[in-house]
Amino acid sequence: MNVGSTKEKNPEKRISITPDTTKNFKNLGLNVFLEKGFGESLGFSDKEFKENGAVILNNSADVLSKSDLICKVNFPDDEEFSQIKEKSYLIVSNFNPEKEKKFLKNNINIFALNLLPRITRAQSMDVLSSQANLAGYRAVIETIYEYQKAVPMMMTAAGTVPAAKVLVVGAGVAGLQAIATAKRLGAIVSATDVRITAKEQVESLGGKFLTVEGSENLETKGGYAKEVSEDFKKKQAEMLENAVSKSDIIICTALIPGRPAPRIITEKMIDTMRSGSVIFDLAVSQGGNSAYSEIDKIVDKKGIKIIGISNVMNKLPLTASNLYAKNLFSFVRNLYSKEKKEFVINLEDEIIKKTLLKE
Ligand code: NAI
Repeated sequence: MNVGSTKEKNPEKRISITPDTTKNFKNLGLNVFLEKGFGESLGFSDKEFKENGAVILNNSADVLSKSDLICKVNFPDDEEFSQIKEKSYLIVSNFNPEKEKKFLKNNINIFALNLLPRITRAQSMDVLSSQANLAGYRAVIETIYEYQKAVPMMMTAAGTVPAAKVLVVGAGVAGLQAIATAKRLGAIVSATDVRITAKEQVESLGGKFLTVEGSENLETKGGYAKEVSEDFKKKQAEMLENAVSKSDIIICTALIPGRPAPRIITEKMIDTMRSGSVIFDLAVSQGGNSAYSEIDKIVDKKGIKIIGISNVMNKLPLTASNLYAKNLFSFVRNLYSKEKKEFVINLEDEIIKKTLLKE
């Protein structure tokens, strides 16, 4: 069987197969076809891919016509999709039903890795975790660039520089990494979440957990957040009004899967922040946790900057690609039967069932 991949469309910088995973595919008994110049932007030459067993073809159409399974970061566009062979397999990192539902009519087996169940067996494939972890780290780094003061406390002969106060809203995968990164830089970190189980995790990273008074544990069986009540929202806003006014930096990562992002940081709260403060809204693509955040813009409101970057992984595409490619290889290994020497759709397997897209 043949696995293939083509270059991603601009502005995506990540790739789905690396020289390392090319070798892994070969060891599994699969051929790898790649478009010429596939990994050049990330410093992977065609020669390096060839040395690891890949066959380099001149253009994407050649790759698609030969591949039984196509690995991508983003969904192919109409032209590329039309070149994919019937009955082949396509794996993408993310599926947007609004834009991409039309592609499900075709006789192609499409898997979206953002739909993976968060079960132990799927951990090595967990794209949402591997990418959100990097996003949480990079959100802090991007924020520091815009923050015009030093982050750690510094005692100098000219006086003492106080440590920056960082507030992280939502302590899931991205939030916990944001806390760890801000702590490493010497900030004083506090965080809040609707899941009480997050308290222990925040504290183990050296952060202070801000509990909403009288809150219950708003966690689903799958470990995600539940929708909050109006009463909870009011209490959370009261608690945050005080915390926000004292913060220099806020990193927003609150998410309820499948729902628009909860609006947590209001205009009124932002009004109380000191000029020079910075907010990073990781949830900007889902509507944003913060007032004023706009996709791929830095908005300046009276000296307070609100950053919204829709694809933070593009700021560290090499690490993001290495992790994504490993996640994707683990998924293919589960899909491929070495005995039958073909890909097998076993709908008894929760991993396959949940990720296979249906019309
Ligand atoms: P996650 O599900 O692991 O964490 C989200 C956290 O928010 C959970 O702990 C949840 O309990 C908490 N939460 C939900 N509602 C809340 C509320 N009202 N108040 C306080 N906390 C609340 O999600 P993950 O993977 O950490 O992603 C976080 C966000 O970052 C998502 O919106 C995701 O789409 C986004 N993201 C954005 C990227 C980008 O490039 N802009 C890259 C990766 C993730």
